[in-house]
Amino acid sequence: MNARPVTPSDHPALLSLWQRTPGIRIRPEDRFEPFCDYLARNPGLSLLVEVEGLPVACLMAGHDGRRGYLQHLVVDVAYRGRGLARLLLERTLASLAELGIHKSHVFVLRDAPQALAFWQAQDGWEQRDDIEVFSMQGRHS
Ligand SMILES: CC(C)(COP(=O)(O)OP(=O)(O)OC[C@H]1O[C@@H](n2cnc3c(N)ncnc32)[C@H](O)[C@@H]1OP(=O)(O)O)[C@@H](O)C(=O)NCCC(=O)NCCS
Repeated sequence: MNARPVTPSDHPALLSLWQRTPGIRIRPEDRFEPFCDYLARNPGLSLLVEVEGLPVACLMAGHDGRRGYLQHLVVDVAYRGRGLARLLLERTLASLAELGIHKSHVFVLRDAPQALAFWQAQDGWEQRDDIEVFSMQGRHS
């Protein structure tokens, strides 16, 4: 199974994948327009794996010119444990490195045990205990 870049037309199927996956929170930025804006701003960085025309795994990724940010790493239940998350992660980190981005972050929900276990098992990823995350929620138009 190969990974390919996410495109705007993948939105309905990806939204469905995210909505049925515990550990993934859907945000206003997951609506079609901001989703397309994000892809345009970060061309080729978000990847998916599809089977018979439907995505079974995805990783959304972008950067701010300094750090990479990974979001919505999901593998559909039936396809877990086959290395798809690792494949997406490696491909995305390689693309970020080509752009000169050598450090990336991922925010993992404390109540997503599978996700925490996955990230704790990845070589080179450090679980930070020296940082607290503060977020500001502005208004959406
Ligand atoms: C986390 C998730 C993406 C892992 O997908 P996956 O395709 O099963 O992962 P991979 O097969 O690529 O695993 C690669 C390595 O990670 C580790 N790993 C994967 N899932 C793990 C788990 N639940 N617990 C511990 N280690 C795990 C293993 O070491 C594995 O290496 P191995 O093949 O040598 O055993 C998947 O379980 C998922 O979609 N979970 C729900 C969504 C979610 O919470 N996403 C995270 C958002 S940050």
